[in-house]
Amino acid sequence: MVWQALKFSSLKKPSFPAIELSAERIYMRPPMIEDAKSWAEVRGRNISHIQPFDPKWPDDALTPDLFLRRISRQFYEWQHDRARAFLIFDTHTHALIGGMNINNICRGAAQYASLGFWIDEDCQGQGLMREALALTLKYCFEDLKLHRVHASCLPHNERSKKTLHAAGFKKEGFAEKYLQINGLWEDHVLFGLPKENWVQQNS
Ligand SMILES: CC(C)(COP(=O)(O)OP(=O)(O)OC[C@H]1O[C@@H](n2cnc3c(N)ncnc32)[C@H](O)[C@@H]1OP(=O)(O)O)[C@@H](O)C(=O)NCCC(=O)NCCS
Repeated sequence: MVWQALKFSSLKKPSFPAIELSAERIYMRPPMIEDAKSWAEVRGRNISHIQPFDPKWPDDALTPDLFLRRISRQFYEWQHDRARAFLIFDTHTHALIGGMNINNICRGAAQYASLGFWIDEDCQGQGLMREALALTLKYCFEDLKLHRVHASCLPHNERSKKTLHAAGFKKEGFAEKYLQINGLWEDHVLFGLPKENWVQQNS
């Protein structure tokens, strides 16, 4: 991969708002073009860790071109209040260690969104995703003024279930053939957290 050839002169550079959400050991901010190389490195190292829980990766998943298309779409969705994309970094090393997406923002009478997240396998089991989720929920309820946050996971994704429970989510249901994961329509366990419960848990 010739990273020096990463040229975006003919394309509009996505310019997200300068938002940074910080906790003790991690911080989160929107993606930048300059993250392309670290993105490919960390995602490339984590294919077998993430791919079983993710929509099927295209053949060019780790290329600079795909990264640019990805963040251009995320920028469009941010601008139109449809989603918010964050990358997660280690506070001490500034290494890119994960991602957090606030997807499917629904306004009107609904005021909800659904989360998707992953962390570098080397950083797993340290409670870092719990820190990221705590920041994300605060941002969802206080900044985005959402009233409810959803998440879902494959029935055998025990780590994700534990993490969601620890963040205050409750299991709310089961949806057959809910999302296409790694090429197959898969059943999912549905989780939810209304603002009232989050306020009570954090007061
Ligand atoms: C789901 C995923 C993000 C969970 O990551 P994680 O690191 O286990 O998440 P947490 O932040 O909740 O960490 C909890 C673990 O850290 C441990 N831990 C260590 N120090 C801790 C601390 N200071 N605070 C809290 N927990 C701590 C906990 O005991 C727990 O360990 P255990 O699972 O062995 O009991 C991760 O497994 C992942 O990226 N999976 C692949 C993608 C994926 O499944 N995404 C979700 C799709 S729905």
